Amino acid sequence: MIPVLAAPLQGVTDNVWRMAQHSVFGGVDAYYAPFMRVEHGEVRRKDLRDVDPERNAGITLIPQILACQPDHALMMVDALKLMGYRHIDINLGCPFPPIALHRKGSGMMAYPELAQALFQALASVDGVEYSVKMRLGWDNAEQWRDILPLLDIIKPVNIAIHPRTGKQQYKGELDIEQFEAILTASPWPVIYNGSLRSLEDIKLTIQRYPTLAAVMVGSRLAANPGMMAPNATPDDYRHFHDLLVEGYTEQLNGGEAQLVRHLQDIWQTFLPGTNRKLFKAIRKSRTLDQYENAATAALNDVEAALSPKEDEGL
Ligand SMILES: Cc1cc2nc3c(=O)[nH]c(=O)nc-3n(C[C@H](O)[C@H](O)[C@H](O)COP(=O)(O)O)c2cc1C
Repeated sequence: MIPVLAAPLQGVTDNVWRMAQHSVFGGVDAYYAPFMRVEHGEVRRKDLRDVDPERNAGITLIPQILACQPDHALMMVDALKLMGYRHIDINLGCPFPPIALHRKGSGMMAYPELAQALFQALASVDGVEYSVKMRLGWDNAEQWRDILPLLDIIKPVNIAIHPRTGKQQYKGELDIEQFEAILTASPWPVIYNGSLRSLEDIKLTIQRYPTLAAVMVGSRLAANPGMMAPNATPDDYRHFHDLLVEGYTEQLNGGEAQLVRHLQDIWQTFLPGTNRKLFKAIRKSRTLDQYENAATAALNDVEAALSPKEDEGL
């Protein structure tokens, strides 16, 4: 099978999640880190900490940068090079309006001249190769046609395509026709990303597009980190969750309330088939004890949460 890549999900697939997924379930060939960015003139420390090689030991990690200004992009590339990274992903896909309206992420796809300036700056750095994670465009599903030729400046090792426009965010139909047009037109290896829900889905996609370089799985892997491990047991899910609690207890230093809030946030994407009552108890917990009781009850019911019926509508 071709490589299966874990898509970056800001707020979910950080180093704690990646290491837990890798050590308990595996089945992922490489992980993309959620994008890093420059804020107040420096690379966010939290982002640097997340890609620290010591916190990502034993996995293949591809850090990702999000920038509109070439000098910001270069600051991040320099910092990543110092950490030893030689493959860096460029985000041309983020659809969130506060970012895209500043011509970053998918917003940049409407401004080929900005993308060109960014690529020219990045191409000037020695010893680094790039990939690009992109959409079809910002507000038009054909904007990729102006971006694709510009990629020649950086000669990416591959491009990952989520076949929607930025304006669509994560809703609406995937535009498979445009995806197929990119697959035909791209001189660079293409990765498919979008709504892959199961191993079966992945196999069908690979059969349908035998020239794909890899497939990338996002929200479904966050929902079910054992998606790539057909023999995963309920104990594995409990173990995975224990590793999250342990990891965030160490990594967050804002006290119990912050830890509980973070763990509650994880349940926005984790096991979405969880029984509503159990989910509510997680949301309502105020102390770590309350949270752990509620989470334990939910994890005791993990088989139901993963059953195909509960799964529908993800
Ligand atoms: C909450 C959330 C955060 C995301 N963060 C990032 C990110 O940091 N970088 C990125 O390239 N894509 C990000 N994405 C997009 C995903 O990587 C992926 O492209 C998208 O979810 C579609 O794949 P899927 O249908 O398998 O989920 C994010 C998506 C969500 C829902």
